[in-house]
This record gives sequence, structure tokens and C-alpha cells, in this order.
Amino acid sequence: MQCLLILFCGVAVAWAAVTVQPPPLIQTLSAGGDIGPEFKLDEQGRIVEDAQYWHKVGLQQLEKTIQKAKRAKENSYERKAKNIIIFIGDGMGLSTISAGRIYKGQYLKTGFGEETMLSFDEFPNTGLAKTYNVDKQVPDSAGTATAIFTGVKSDYGAIGMDTTRSETNATQGQLESIMDWAQREGKRTGVVTTTRITHATPAATYARIYHRDWECDTEVPQQSVGIHADIARQLVERAPGNKFNVVLGGGLSPMGALNQSEVRTVKFEGDTETICTRGDQRNLAEEWLKLQQNGTEGSQRVLVKTREDLLKVDVKKVDHLMGLFRNNHITYSIAREEGEPSLQEMTEAAIGVLERGTSSAGYVLLVEGGRIDQGHHQNYARAALHEVYELDLAVQAALNMTNSDETLILVTADHSHAVTFNGYPLRGTDILGPANIHKPKDPMVYETITYANGPGYFDHLANDTRPQNSSNVWLPLKLFSEAELQSPTYRHMATLPLKDETHGGEDVIVFASGPGSSLVRGVFEQNYLAYVMSYAGCMGPAKAIDGSCQNPLIGSVGTSTSSGISLTTTILPIMAAIPALISTRRSL
Ligand SMILES: *[C@@H]1O[C@H](CO)[C@@H](O)[C@H](O)[C@H]1NC(C)=O
Ligand SMILES: *[C@@H]1O[C@H](CO)[C@@H](O)[C@H](O)[C@H]1NC(C)=O
Ligand SMILES: *[C@@H]1O[C@H](CO)[C@@H](O)[C@H](O)[C@H]1NC(C)=O
Ligand SMILES: *[C@@H]1O[C@H](CO)[C@@H](O)[C@H](O)[C@H]1NC(C)=O
Ligand SMILES: *[C@@H]1O[C@H](CO)[C@@H](O)[C@H](O)[C@H]1NC(C)=O
Ligand SMILES: *[C@@H]1O[C@H](CO)[C@@H](O)[C@H](O)[C@H]1NC(C)=O
Ligand SMILES: [Zn+2]
Repeated sequence: MQCLLILFCGVAVAWAAVTVQPPPLIQTLSAGGDIGPEFKLDEQGRIVEDAQYWHKVGLQQLEKTIQKAKRAKENSYERKAKNIIIFIGDGMGLSTISAGRIYKGQYLKTGFGEETMLSFDEFPNTGLAKTYNVDKQVPDSAGTATAIFTGVKSDYGAIGMDTTRSETNATQGQLESIMDWAQREGKRTGVVTTTRITHATPAATYARIYHRDWECDTEVPQQSVGIHADIARQLVERAPGNKFNVVLGGGLSPMGALNQSEVRTVKFEGDTETICTRGDQRNLAEEWLKLQQNGTEGSQRVLVKTREDLLKVDVKKVDHLMGLFRNNHITYSIAREEGEPSLQEMTEAAIGVLERGTSSAGYVLLVEGGRIDQGHHQNYARAALHEVYELDLAVQAALNMTNSDETLILVTADHSHAVTFNGYPLRGTDILGPANIHKPKDPMVYETITYANGPGYFDHLANDTRPQNSSNVWLPLKLFSEAELQSPTYRHMATLPLKDETHGGEDVIVFASGPGSSLVRGVFEQNYLAYVMSYAGCMGPAKAIDGSCQNPLIGSVGTSTSSGISLTTTILPIMAAIPALISTRRSL
């Protein structure tokens, strides 16, 4: 410490004598970000959890679930979904969901908060997904998105490739995604995200690449150049990406369409605020606009870059819509910039482009609320919870625009976070406020939302500022002004110093509504979700495991909406009353 005035040094020394000094961890842990050594399940390579292994695990879970339903004389699992919408709240663990629904109630001032329901809280079915990667107990979005969208669990960082992936061989370990399966059945497909369109979660629906970081050509390491095409290129050059009907999100920079004059009002920090730029001078957004798919003469392609232009799109006429609204991720919704659409607006446009009525084969859509995760990584609890609220609106919009007899909607997270919802705050207490302000004798006032680790440590650590009744280690909360506490960049406290808060490893919840939703029950490996979509959507590997796609029960593919409704309302009560009829119905 530099001492400019003897007097100040004297104060500091006197304080230090009575202060518990922070542990030396502050130096060793703050580096963060490193994946660590490569992990093999065993040294001899006898245990291989590759595509074939996880395929078996997925099918076994499906069969187990179906057997349980049959024993209970239930048959709703056989119902087929014409459309599938999967919502991923990136990093939206259970503590985030509980806190998010309280935030929603308090933000909308509908009550105390705790009694509030999120739109997906009302879904009829839930289950728990085990999220670990093949090589990591606590996973990342690349490995988990690969599990959800391809049905194959993989390694931390892997996109659309199983554990046999190679940096020097791009064909080895390639996987198909739900989007490949859907396109083969003539379904329309789309991806919506608040992150860069090349970021891990959306990328796993269309790219097959050794590592998630290779979003631009400049990020592909020397030994893989000419072998692995970067993620942005894969979106435009290959199926299923180049056949998507909808691509909405951020990422102008990796797509080679950087906006030099982009305005940034609030400065957010962290690893996710940096972006790659292309070195090959290609403008992949313009290239996408010029793609002409075979056999779809006259199909209209539109590229938009602002909210205003998005809202002007005639969704009934446009067959291929790309919207790129930001160089990097779309700004946190709590600090939305001019010209940026909300997740709800993007979701509405996407469904508009995908929905083509009773004679169509339906669609598969991914909607990602991608910045819940990134808010948590910086301990920006307010920004993260506001993203949950925005995801809730997008789900509500999807419910409003679709028929629950023909559309399977899943809402889940890829993984959790090291965030806690703790203390004994009184009913109705501000979810982002202190937990124990009502107990004046407590030596330290602390927040209801705190983190096990992250950069919030540095913001709350008592240093030269004399700590007052804050356990002598942390700055008293009252030293933060109201404006600081309300700021979207205010960090909640973290108890371990990391530049970037980490993910959490506990199970995530899956909410399900619509045909096939009753397959979501109990605890399962995360890759099972791809098999739920495959079986319910009559596409991909579980399409033909039984006769249910040839002889669909109700609300089936190709059945008109209105007859779907009347069948449901007339048959269901009868089936409930005569269980024996259900089990024999298929053989009739
Ligand atoms: C790459 O991997 C594939 C699949 O394992 C294999 O067939 C092919 O021979 C490999 N190519 C090279 C150049 O090693
Ligand atoms: C770049 O972004 C600014 C706002 O951030 C916007 O006004 C302008 O229209 C954008 N330019 C292009 C070419 O999209
Ligand atoms: C269009 O058809 C030609 C010839 O049938 C084929 O080589 C090409 O790959 C097709 N292009 C697309 C985008 O499907
Ligand atoms: C959904 O529909 C309800 C009832 O019409 C309406 O009140 C609500 O605003 C809609 N919500 C969204 C997000 O579209
Ligand atoms: C002490 O903590 C405050 C609040 O986080 C910070 O702004 C300041 O830079 C810190 N001072 C030192 C000397 O580390
Ligand atoms: C700290 O707490 C003690 C008792 O809990 C109280 O007497 C004292 O005034 C407090 N000091 C400050 C600066 O708040
Ligand atoms: Zn993350």
C-alpha cells in the first residue's frame, strides 16, 4: 500500500490489527477460465461413452418411461407433436427459477412475489435432468446443448460431436441434431437466441466442431485450419444451418457483418463481452441472403438488423428470416439498447415464419434465453433475473400462439449456477435486497441472493474502507448507494474470488406441455430430451421404435387443429373412465 499521508497509514494499520485478513486465495483462484487437463474415463480407453453408448442410454430411458406408463394404464405418452418448441434458459437452475418468479411478481407489483407463477410453472409435466458432461462433473453449455439436441452426451466444450472428436479430423464423431431429423420429415426449423447466434447453445443445433470457441475463422487453431470450418461458416455453408427458416440473435461480428458505429450505453464486464472478428473478409450474413435452396423458387429471404425492421417483416410471406441485432450478444434486457428486439418479439416473429397451417409438416424451434447464464457469471443478479422474466414472456407468447394439442413445449436449462437463495428474509422482501435487515442485532447484513464464487468477491471485500459490523471481512451493505444497488452492473457478494462465477452441477428441471409431455417425468440423463422430441415428433432415432407414428393417437401429425381438439375433448373423459379400453385401443 502506498502511504501518502502518515495519518492515513496510521488509520489503516490500526484497522488491520483488528481485521480478519482475506485469505491468500485471492491470488491463486482469480485466474479462472482454464478447462484443465484432458480427462479420459480410463487410461486404457476401455470405457468409451460415445454416440452409440448414449444412444442406448436414451432409448432405454424412453422404454422405461413407456413401460411405467403402460403399467399405470396411461397412454398419453403416445400422443404425437406436429410442432416442437424447446426453450433453454441458459444457466437457469432451480434457485434462479424460484428467485425469478419472485422477481416477476415484485417487478410487476402483483403481490408479495412468492405466490407468483411463471408461465411454465403451469405446465402439466416436470422431470429432472442430470447435466454432467462425459468428462466433467459440472458441465458447460456446449456439452449439455449437444446432449439435448443430438441425444449424445459429450465433453466439456464439444459442439455436435461425441467424445471421439478430433482436432485434426472433422468427420470423426459428427452427430445429427433434432434439426437434421426435423428437416428430413419436411418440418420447418428455426433458432432464436439472445446471445451470438454462433454461441454454444444455438451452435449445437447446427454445427459439428471440436470446440465451442471456434466461432470465427481466426479462432480455429493452426492444427485444425482447413479441417474444421468455424461455427459461423457452418451455419451458412451446411445443413441443417443453411436450411433454417429462422435465425435470430446477436453475432454480427462472427458473421462478418460488424457494425462499426454500434452504441453501448452501459458497460458490462466479463469474458462474454469480448468477440472474435473474421480474418477471411467474408460477410456470411450477405452470403446467407443470396442462398437459393433447390425446389423453393421464389421463396423469400430477408435479413434484418433492427427491431423496427423485424416487426415489419411479413411473416406469412417470408420463408427464410435472419435477424442479427448486435455485434456481440444482444444487450441484457434490463439495459436494452435502441433497435434491439425482446426475446418475446423474436419468438413471435419466429413462430410466424414457421407456422404454415394444417397442410404443413410442422416445425421445430429452439428459443434460448442465453444471458441468464452470463449475468450470473458476473454476479449481476438483477440482470440475470430480468432475463428469466423475459424468457417467461417469450414462453407465454408461444403458448398464446400455438395449440397445445399439436405443439410440444419444453422449458429447461442446460445447467445450473453457483447462486444461492438464502437467509430468512420476511415474506415479500425485495428478492434482490438484504435477507436480515429486520434483525438489528445481526452483526452483518447480507443479501438473499449470494454467490459461492465470482467477481462479486472483489466488490464486497473490505479493504481500505473501514468495515462496520460486517464480520470485518466484507463491506457493510449500507456503504452502497441506492443507485449502485439498483444498477444492472451491481454485483452481489461472492465468497470465493473468481473473475468469472462458475456453473453449478445439480440437476435442472424440465417443464413440458403438449403431446409427448408425459414422457418428461422422474430423473433422467439430459440426452433423453432428444429422444422425447424424437419419439413425440416422429423424427430421428426413436421414430420407429413402435407403431405409434404410423397409427397416431390424437392431435397427430397432419390432423387438422379443430379435429384434434374435438377428439381430445370427447375421447379423453371416456378413456379416463374405462382404463381397459386404453390398453387395448392400439390393437383395435
Ligand atoms: C477421419 O475419421 C473418419 C471416421 O473415423 C475416418 O473414416 C477417416 O479415415 C479419418 N480421416 C483421416 C484423414 O484420418
Ligand atoms: C449500427 O448500430 C447503430 C446503433 O447502435 C444503428 O443506429 C445503425 O443503424 C447500425 N448500422 C447498421 C449498418 O446496421
Ligand atoms: C441443389 O441441387 C444440386 C443438384 O441436384 C446439388 O448438387 C446441390 O447440393 C443442391 N443445393 C442445395 C443447397 O441443396
Ligand atoms: C397472452 O394472451 C393473454 C390473453 O389474451 C394476454 O393477456 C397476454 O398479454 C398474452 N401474453 C403474451 C406474452 O403474448
Ligand atoms: C476497495 O473496495 C472498493 C469497493 O469495491 C473499490 O472501489 C476500491 O478500489 C478498493 N480499494 C482498494 C485499495 O483495493
Ligand atoms: C455495531 O453493532 C453493535 C452491536 O451489535 C452496535 O453497538 C454498534 O453501534 C454497531 N456499530 C455500527 C458502526 O453500526
Ligand atoms: Zn456459462
